[in-house]
Amino acid sequence: MKGTGKNDRINIAIDGPAGAGKSTVARMVANKLQYIYVDTGAMYRAVTLFMLNEGISSENHEKVLQTAQNMVIELKPYENGQLVLLNGKDVTPYIRSHQVSSAVSRYAQIEGLRTQLVDLQRQMALRKGVVMDGRDIGTTVLPDAEVKIFMTASVKERALRRFKEMGDAEGVSLEQLELDIAARDRLDQEREVSPLRCADDAIVLDTTQMTIHEVVDTIFSYCISQMDGEK
Ligand code: DC
Repeated sequence: MKGTGKNDRINIAIDGPAGAGKSTVARMVANKLQYIYVDTGAMYRAVTLFMLNEGISSENHEKVLQTAQNMVIELKPYENGQLVLLNGKDVTPYIRSHQVSSAVSRYAQIEGLRTQLVDLQRQMALRKGVVMDGRDIGTTVLPDAEVKIFMTASVKERALRRFKEMGDAEGVSLEQLELDIAARDRLDQEREVSPLRCADDAIVLDTTQMTIHEVVDTIFSYCISQMDGEK
């Protein structure tokens, strides 16, 4: 296939608000290109889980940073997704709980913590061939990424997607999810360090009316045309 040889590997940054479908799409694009998928939200979630379990408040920056310095976070490809290991322990099943989702934006605002995680994310992308999703990938983590996508969808649609994904397991209503997502958007957009922002050179994809396959195909075609352009 044209443009997918090992020598012309590129990096792909996918940013956007919570619940826009970034991780599903990023994973599928990575599979199609045989690239590595890096879910940076999972890294912030793993840190948050650890801090909550240890009873360390997001207000106590010093303690958060000190604790995070001794944490080892690894992402490992697994079947159609990714395992998140925290100090060698698989925490994947726990990082998407409502409790972690509600707290993560508060920890993600801490500048020193972001610096640590951004360093790790950059190392993961050094050899190219990475599809990385998050909030600040195109603007801060990989400003030189060859392809930058900003994926969004209405708050209603994003809440509905999360609701279907979660099922009844946590007893959270659709209305509550809408409120949570709107609150998280605000925190992510208004924080001082690396706020959620569309990079000037990103392609904006409003996926409210699109199927996952349409989104994946659009991004994939764009990647192939970029790779061909690089030759
Ligand atoms: O994508 P997600 O919902 O799993 O992300 C969890 C939280 O982590 C989200 O509220 C914002 C934060 N985050 C961030 O600040 N920067 C990133 N690159 C990725 C996620």
